[in-house]
Amino acid sequence: MSADAFAGQHGELLSLAVDVGREAAELVRRRRPEGRVPVADVKSSATDPVTEIDRASEELIRRLVAEARPDDGFLGEEGDTLVGTSGVEWVVDPIDGTVNFMYGVPAYAVSIAARTGDQVVAGFVVNVADGRAWGATLGGGAYRLDGEPRRFVTPTPPPLTHLLVATGFGYDPEVRAAQGASVTQLLPQVRDIRRIGAAALDLCALAEGTVDAYVERGLQPWDLAAGGLIATEAGCVLSGLEGAPDRRLVMGAHPEIAPEYFELVRACGF
Ligand code: IPD
Repeated sequence: MSADAFAGQHGELLSLAVDVGREAAELVRRRRPEGRVPVADVKSSATDPVTEIDRASEELIRRLVAEARPDDGFLGEEGDTLVGTSGVEWVVDPIDGTVNFMYGVPAYAVSIAARTGDQVVAGFVVNVADGRAWGATLGGGAYRLDGEPRRFVTPTPPPLTHLLVATGFGYDPEVRAAQGASVTQLLPQVRDIRRIGAAALDLCALAEGTVDAYVERGLQPWDLAAGGLIATEAGCVLSGLEGAPDRRLVMGAHPEIAPEYFELVRACGF
């Protein structure tokens, strides 16, 4: 896709995210061996893995972004933070859903966002396992980007008691115990819970209406950046403990149900 394929102020950044994200997705697909992918190391806890392919994907993304935009900053899950001078910073998860990737559960993604200051202005997410892809620019809407680009909006949600809610769990056992306790309270009050295993894909599912709502504590910037923009550009509301979503809490839903849903989430102790 050429650099001017997307219109609008942030279209060039999205075009680069798409080009680089597709190359990284191809690398991840090609290098994945049959069966279980070996763990190269663990990070925040003994169950927080990284594989050589996560690292190779991030190295490729860093190189391609630096070739195209040498003055930009870079924040990636697997490498050192690079401070830039252009005012644009790339926020990247080279494989979101690493545990799914290891086991072969078909929900793992490359997630690439560009932000200026705290504001994400372009985001691209591609599910490596099935090729579905989503993108957005700030103020420019959300698009499906596999095949011909197709703009979409979040469909009208069902009532609170019928929400299908996506959530996720961190890697720290204590945090997990608290997350589990909150989910135990939420589960009887909604249709059901989904734990897809990749936050970027959860947020794209929220955007498209494959789930009706989302909640998670402990997300890192690279889990949230691209998928968060895609969800809000599709028409969802995202919120946190004090306004903007952050590491402490991310909850999201269609505006028609958001106030009621956010109140329920807080009442469940998230
Ligand atoms: C994880 C996934 C998971 C979410 C965790 C994340 P990773 O990212 O997005 O769905 O619940 O909070 O850390 O480790 O697979 O890149």
